[in-house]
Amino acid sequence: MAPPAPPAKRPVGTVTRGTTNPNRLRRMDRWIADAHGAALRRATAPVAVDLGYGAAPWTAVELLQRLRTAAPAVSVVGIEIEPARVAAAKPYEREGLAFRHGGFEVPLPEPPLLIRAANVLRQYDEAEVAAVWARLCARLAPGGLLVEGTCDEIGRRHVWVALGPSGPRTVTFATRLGSLERPSDLAERLPKALIHRNVPGEPVHAFLRDFDRAWAAAAPYASLGARQRWITSVRGLAGDWPVVDGPRRWRQGEVTVDWSALAPG
Ligand SMILES: C[S@@+](CC[C@H](N)C(=O)[O-])C[C@H]1O[C@@H](n2cnc3c(N)ncnc32)[C@H](O)[C@@H]1O
Repeated sequence: MAPPAPPAKRPVGTVTRGTTNPNRLRRMDRWIADAHGAALRRATAPVAVDLGYGAAPWTAVELLQRLRTAAPAVSVVGIEIEPARVAAAKPYEREGLAFRHGGFEVPLPEPPLLIRAANVLRQYDEAEVAAVWARLCARLAPGGLLVEGTCDEIGRRHVWVALGPSGPRTVTFATRLGSLERPSDLAERLPKALIHRNVPGEPVHAFLRDFDRAWAAAAPYASLGARQRWITSVRGLAGDWPVVDGPRRWRQGEVTVDWSALAPG
């Protein structure tokens, strides 16, 4: 008689609310395609994971579309810890797109070159973030990228951290400029690792304070449009903070800063 099958392993993590929306993660998708497109193109059969895609598969479908413009050979696997959400996504499988039940263990035979986790850790405790990051980074292929962050329901305001196999690298702030009163409006979308640190004495608080000041100083540029005002603000900010991108990305309503400058004190 064949030995009994080993018990199925429980996925690592917790089922949380499945809120999602079509096009919600467009800013993050485009940034990933730009920042990581070359690495995805160089690989023979690159795999990208949309971890915790939620109650509907939209973000995984769109991640595939957007990454393929940069790396035509890429495939996307949506991984979700709630089995009913995996069953609901299965009919959307197609060439290059699959859905799997799983959690932070990332149950794939080969390590992925990208793991994107959007609006997943927001519902965990701050104390859990470091261990989850370490676990996910350990699953990355060499040269891989983990992108973890948060946005509002329709993706107008977004903040994410990008990590390599050995840890955090950068923090990106991305917004629809027309909807912005001041840069610190983005504070409510800080990722879990930073949102509770937006208090006096912490680097992220000082950064947003300086960003608001630069924005106020750039008020005369508002007559040329919010984009010109944002670009001027970021240029001013870059005198004091390690901004790692340039006007090409600032024009999109983005700015990326070295993680070490914003890391909790
Ligand atoms: C708020 S939804 C986010 C959906 C989508 N990523 C978005 O941004 O629109 C969070 C999803 O993450 C899933 N989730 C939470 N922890 C997870 C884990 N450890 N592994 C996989 N999925 C997880 C939840 O079940 C939920 O469906």
